[in-house]
Amino acid sequence: MNILALIGSPRKGSNTELLIDAVMEGARTAGHQAEKLSLYDYDIKPCVDCRRCKRDDYRCALTDDMSAIYPRLRDADLIIFGTPVYWYGPTAKMKLLVDRLRPFIADRGLAGKKGLVVVPSEEGAACCGPLSEMFRMSFGYLGMEPAGEILAAAYERGEIKKSPNELKRAREKGASL
Ligand SMILES: Cc1cc2nc3c(=O)[nH]c(=O)nc-3n(C[C@H](O)[C@H](O)[C@H](O)COP(=O)(O)O)c2cc1C
Repeated sequence: MNILALIGSPRKGSNTELLIDAVMEGARTAGHQAEKLSLYDYDIKPCVDCRRCKRDDYRCALTDDMSAIYPRLRDADLIIFGTPVYWYGPTAKMKLLVDRLRPFIADRGLAGKKGLVVVPSEEGAACCGPLSEMFRMSFGYLGMEPAGEILAAAYERGEIKKSPNELKRAREKGASL
């Protein structure tokens, strides 16, 4: 399986990235290919609801770095959406990416692909309800198959390293994909 991990944290060495690295490590032991990209390295403009993606060839009218991300999403069998909790939702950058998935509604380009959600937060799983639901419903709308979630408690940069059990669970999740 071809796995693409999207990192929606602005921090280098983020808890999001460390959890994703663990999932990818596990996935590779199971023979999958896994790549990651950091959304903050890309210019992603906000969807302006022009509806260009609802007609003809369903292409987005905006010109930015999504032109590099769209083909990678299409090539993936499983997409990991990694974002810390910011105010009980995803980071703004992850939300920009999710809004730009709109062409895939018309052309069903993500239908049948799997989606895994990786989310660190200070409060842990108890605060992830709205974010978790946002992804669950969005996967449903896109015809994607939920492949689970990793909801871990961590606050400082890299603090997740102090939770070897969480990282082990993330590796095991990757190996089970
Ligand atoms: C703007 C902002 C909003 C946040 N909102 C929440 C929140 O609502 N609940 C929570 O538990 N943690 C919240 N946090 C804490 C982060 O989720 C936490 O520090 C997380 O580990 C950051 O992950 P990262 O290292 O991958 O960036 C917030 C942090 C920031 C900067």
